[in-house]
Amino acid sequence: MTARIYLSPPDIGPAEEAAVLRALRSGWVAPLGPEVDAFEREVAEYTGRSHAVALSSGTAALHLALLAWGVGPGDIVITASMTFAATANAIAYTGAEPVFVDCDRTGNIDVELLAQALSDQRTRGRRVAAIIPVDLLGKVANYEAIASLAREQGVPVLSDAAESLGARRHGRPAGSFGEAAIVSFNGNKVMTTSGGGMLLTDDGALAARARYLATQARQPVIHYEHTDVGYNYRLSNLLAALGRAQLGRLDAMIELRRATRRRYRDLFATTPGVTIFGAPDGADSDGPTRDNFWLTSILVDSEAAGWSSANLQQYLAIHGIEARPLWKPMHLQPVFAGAVAYTNGTGSDLFARGLSLPSGSVHNDATFARIADCIGDFLHRRTEAKGAQ
Ligand SMILES: Cc1ncc(COP(=O)(O)O)c(C=O)c1O
Repeated sequence: MTARIYLSPPDIGPAEEAAVLRALRSGWVAPLGPEVDAFEREVAEYTGRSHAVALSSGTAALHLALLAWGVGPGDIVITASMTFAATANAIAYTGAEPVFVDCDRTGNIDVELLAQALSDQRTRGRRVAAIIPVDLLGKVANYEAIASLAREQGVPVLSDAAESLGARRHGRPAGSFGEAAIVSFNGNKVMTTSGGGMLLTDDGALAARARYLATQARQPVIHYEHTDVGYNYRLSNLLAALGRAQLGRLDAMIELRRATRRRYRDLFATTPGVTIFGAPDGADSDGPTRDNFWLTSILVDSEAAGWSSANLQQYLAIHGIEARPLWKPMHLQPVFAGAVAYTNGTGSDLFARGLSLPSGSVHNDATFARIADCIGDFLHRRTEAKGAQ
């Protein structure tokens, strides 16, 4: 049987094996330890931040940043509607209300709509406690515009860079924007610790507060003394060792994803109705603004193409190839049905037309050849069917 091809599987090799073995043999199997300290230093340096707190997930990092800022019941947190549920869930954990803002054609938060949301919420007398822009599929959001709006209103920005580690905007690395940012090391991301995340900031007090809350809010005394409700959110030493090995290969793994983006671009170059999502000319280069090529997605105009993104997804699935729609916007999710949302129809359009294709750095030439053959067959059948009509 031919192996199933996944969207973005972990890319693990001898460097990772050696790193985990090193950590195991060092005796630091208990949570925390020198690998965690080194991993934090290395990710802070990679993203140009002064402080990094290694955590059990990106979701935990979002949650702790909000808690450390004192976000809670009665507050509003404005975030992108076009995101994975984790962003909105973290807001809900604090008891604050998520307010969703739709995206522009890049898939990232629409800054004009964000301005409208901020002024509307202020008019209603609501406290906006934070803004969480999301770097969708590895494309860094427009933080210059977001920061100027946030500054006007005195609201801190928490950048959800879960998907964008390794991307840049005007030369600045993803994770360096906002008063704080989070990244994810989930198994499907550009690099992984199997599960994990990090909070990044230049604010030492915020980092210290997050660290404290992440370790059950233990007071620094010999007996167990607690004055706050804490969480068990820290990353283990073994997983940090895995992360360090992955970080050492990150730029090379991103190059492989970039090569895959180019292959898809060539593959669909003459296909009517298909565009590569969110990658204007130049964005595929190694320029000062570039995404991290986490996922290559296509947008299908079904009238021009004669088929829909769902048709292709189903055809690939039958042949053991995973492809997925873009995130279903949060304002369309039943769980957030009651939430306030500022919409323009773009997120729902991208959801209807977008399809992410296998993009992992682990995919080799043979894997891509299988994907290209399968897509080629699909396009051929569709052309023939159209001709027969
Ligand atoms: C945009 C976004 N935010 C947050 C998360 C949460 O990260 P984690 O899975 O590490 O909790 C993810 C991915 O999983 C994500 O894609």
